[in-house]
Amino acid sequence: MQFLIRQYQAEDEREVVALWNQCLPRDEISLNTFRRKIILDANFDPCGCYVATAKRHIIGFILSIRRRYPYYDLGMEPGKGWITAFFVHPEWQRKTIATKLLERAEEFLSRVSVKDIFVSDYTPNYFIPGVDMDSYANAQHFLKKAGYKKVQNVYGMGRSLVDFRIPEEMGEVFQKLADSGFSISLFKPSHTLKVLEFLRKNYPGDLFRVALERLRENPECDEVLVALKDDQVVGFSHFLDERFGPFGIDEEYNGRGLGPMLYYHTVEQMRKKGKHNLWLAWTTGRAKDFYHKVGLKVLRRHVIMKKTV
Ligand SMILES: CC(C)(COP(=O)(O)OP(=O)(O)OC[C@H]1O[C@@H](n2cnc3c(N)ncnc32)[C@H](O)[C@@H]1OP(=O)(O)O)[C@@H](O)C(=O)NCCC(=O)NCCS
Repeated sequence: MQFLIRQYQAEDEREVVALWNQCLPRDEISLNTFRRKIILDANFDPCGCYVATAKRHIIGFILSIRRRYPYYDLGMEPGKGWITAFFVHPEWQRKTIATKLLERAEEFLSRVSVKDIFVSDYTPNYFIPGVDMDSYANAQHFLKKAGYKKVQNVYGMGRSLVDFRIPEEMGEVFQKLADSGFSISLFKPSHTLKVLEFLRKNYPGDLFRVALERLRENPECDEVLVALKDDQVVGFSHFLDERFGPFGIDEEYNGRGLGPMLYYHTVEQMRKKGKHNLWLAWTTGRAKDFYHKVGLKVLRRHVIMKKTV
């Protein structure tokens, strides 16, 4: 059966979104999200986006990205590129369509000097942080065959907040921290500069970006909390609806319960604002162990994959 690969065109959006929702059932999107996170992404380049067609219908899609503009302190991340979404209509799979789409995306990325291609930890507009090992295992087989190797595992985690209580044994830990000058505060506008300076130094890139955008939108945002050592900001946490994060404390203060103290106070604020659940899209390594300790369970398992071209 014949199929063609061509560059994405403006008229394709509805068909692509419909196919997306058929092929990626755990990650459905609306037309609005497609426009916001893809077409309106300043880094979007139609030359890196391809569709496969048969009888004038779209049967496959791939999106590749490299930075066209610096991303805060991460800059241009030269040599790095990402494939953030790809799929083929179920009736057209195992006919080399994804292989051809991937070849075109890789050609594009090579032309713009990308050496390392990641699937896909692209900030800010990733869709799935890596391949979902449970729902899209085929994609992992496919990428391995195409020469991609595992970089790391990334987990989505969550919990119900219905019966949430701060564990009693934390009382003593919090008291010790308070005695040493640590406290947790709901964000106040007077913290703004200190929060930004803390993030710029400790978490340049996406955490800094989230804080900046959220506080620009609402300079009195009550979905941000800070950890303070005396009057210095040493930790930041944020939530939006039931989505928790980003979250981070100054590494210098690791290991004394400050992370849990900030986490538990943030959850209390979420509860006050009527949230029944908490989830986060992306954690890994030691942070995953931390979330596990404070009662979160793994909801999704992903693997970030990479190929050097
Ligand atoms: C992953 C996907 C895009 C592959 O598309 P495709 O057009 O069928 O891929 P190809 O025909 O080019 O496959 C090339 C090779 O990949 C491997 N592969 C592809 N699908 C596979 C599967 N279901 N099981 C095992 N290996 C597979 C095989 O080695 C295959 O070569 P072969 O057919 O000669 O054995 C398709 O299965 C899909 O759309 N899945 C759902 C969406 C998805 O998971 N997207 C990724 C989100 S992160």
